This record gives sequence, structure tokens and C-alpha cells, in this order.
Amino acid sequence: MRGIILAGGSGTRLRPITTVSSKQLLPVYDKPMVYYPLSVLMLAGIREILLISNPEHLDTYEQLLGDGSRLGLRIEYAAQDRPRGLADALRVGREFIGDEQIALILGDNIFYGHALAELLGRERDRLEGCTLFGYPVADPERYGVAVTDDDGRIVELEEKPAAPRSNLAVTGLYLYDNEAVEIATRLRPSARGELEITDLNKEFMAQGRARLVNLGRGSAWFDTGTHESLLDAAMFVQILEKRQGIRLACIEEVAYRMGFIDTERLNLLGKEMSASSGSGYGQYLMELTRT
Ligand code: DAU
Repeated sequence: MRGIILAGGSGTRLRPITTVSSKQLLPVYDKPMVYYPLSVLMLAGIREILLISNPEHLDTYEQLLGDGSRLGLRIEYAAQDRPRGLADALRVGREFIGDEQIALILGDNIFYGHALAELLGRERDRLEGCTLFGYPVADPERYGVAVTDDDGRIVELEEKPAAPRSNLAVTGLYLYDNEAVEIATRLRPSARGELEITDLNKEFMAQGRARLVNLGRGSAWFDTGTHESLLDAAMFVQILEKRQGIRLACIEEVAYRMGFIDTERLNLLGKEMSASSGSGYGQYLMELTRT
């Protein structure tokens, strides 16, 4: 399975903090936002990843993450010249995807759950068509909303409905069989001029091949589309990290725990980061090698 992180868009709602910076590079407490979706793909065991962003921001992402080899990954970069919609990611990534299955994740979505790695591994193995992940929210009208039957098969799907039929928001993590690329190629822009991911998902739904896994109360999901939700996410991360003495979405730690890098490499990454600056993040990495 190949992973795609979609980290473009205009970020207009967050201006002026996104006037010169890519939204998905903004900090969420102690690390750049993109670390969170990247760590989710890594937890799913995905090591080949394409990062898509606006042409003017690609260099910065590359400076941050390089070719991924330091984390035992292969990271490639591609430009989306304008925000054509979420489904456009499959068009931009067509060559990178080749004949493989796809995990698409939005660069501004933050997931937390204690059994996330197991859940993603399981869903990856049983994927047939498309698998979406739902999360109960108080304001479903802001999101894609799904209704499922008792077996988790999606029977209704609507983008930002005025009168939502359920409180299950469709989160920004999508698992697809390879044919999703073909479907994306056939999509036509919606009334707002975008290639809608919901239209793509509806095609799988019409074939009876779209499932939704409810992440439920035992997990947390944030999108960071507004100043308020960005702050909520940062506070959530801070509270958990402070209380437990751990770090969420620490990509070096995830690489280590998933067996992508060894103790020696982790120690080196920690040393590099804390050298001369005394970065607590770097020290955390070095401490991990001793536990
Ligand atoms: O966050 C989950 C929601 O994401 C889903 O529930 C919705 O079904 C889905 O349509 C999407 O809704 P949003 O209104 O949040 O989408 P937005 O246009 O804000 O784009 C989400 C992120 O993707 C955002 O960080 C910008 C980026 N993006 C967006 C577009 C349209 C791109 O990188 N390229 C694009 O072309």
C-alpha cells in the first residue's frame, strides 16, 4: 500500500498565519502538523509516501523530511498547482501509486487512539473497495457525513449536509483499492469547482463496497481548519504529553517501534536534534534508546 499526504490548499481561513507558511507546517504544540498524519501512515506500516502540496511550499517540506531514508521511509514530493479538490490527490499521485492500494490522509487531520496501529493493520488487510473512518461529532454539518447498516457498510454519504442524517463525520483518512485512481480520473468538478472525495466514495458506495469503521469514543480526532480547532488540538497534545511523559506523533519513535530504524539510528537522530540546542525532543529520543 502506498501512502499519500495531501498538504496543499489555500489556508485562507487561518490567515494571516498561513500568509507565508503552509498550513500543515504550523505547529501543533511541539511539532509540525504534518508529523501527525505522517505518523498515522507509518503506524499502518506504510513506508512509501507521497507528499502533495502547493509548488511554493514543496521545498520547505523537503527540508523538513528529506527523502525519508533517515526514518527508514521513501518520501516523494509532488505539486498540486491549485486546490482542485481532495480527489485530485489520486490524479496527481497516479504514477507514484502504480498498481498498489492507497492510503490517503489529509495533512491537517490529527488522530489519536491507543490501538490505532492494530486497527489500521487490520483494516488494511481486509480492504475491499474503500474503507473510511468515522468519528462522532457535535457539528456533523461541517463534514462529510455517513450512515451505515449494521455491518458497517455505508448506505448514505453526504458532504456538509444542512440536515445531517447521523453524527458520524467522515475523517480525512481513506483506504482505497487501486481502481480509485480510475474513478478519480472520471470525476467531474462539483458546484464549488472541486473534485470531491465524497463523490469518489459514493461510487464505491453504489457498488456496495464502501465500509466505515467508527473510531468511537475511545479515540480522538481533530481537524485543524479553524483557529479554535487548531488550539484545541494543541492543548489536547500538551495535556496528554505532560501527564504521561510521552510524545504523540513522534515520527522518529514510531519509526523505531515499527522496526524501520534501529537503536543506533534513533540515538543519532536524538543527538543531532539536541546538540547545542538542548532540545527536549532530541533528549526524549535518546532516552527511548535506554528504555
Ligand atoms: O477533515 C475531514 C473533512 O475533510 C471530511 O469530513 C470532508 O468530507 C472532506 O471534504 C474534507 O472537508 P474540508 O472542508 O475540511 O476540506 P478542505 O477543503 O478544508 O480541505 C481539507 C484539507 O486538504 C485542507 O488542509 C486543505 C487540503 N487541500 C484541500 C483541497 C480542496 C488540498 O491540499 N488540496 C485541495 O485541492
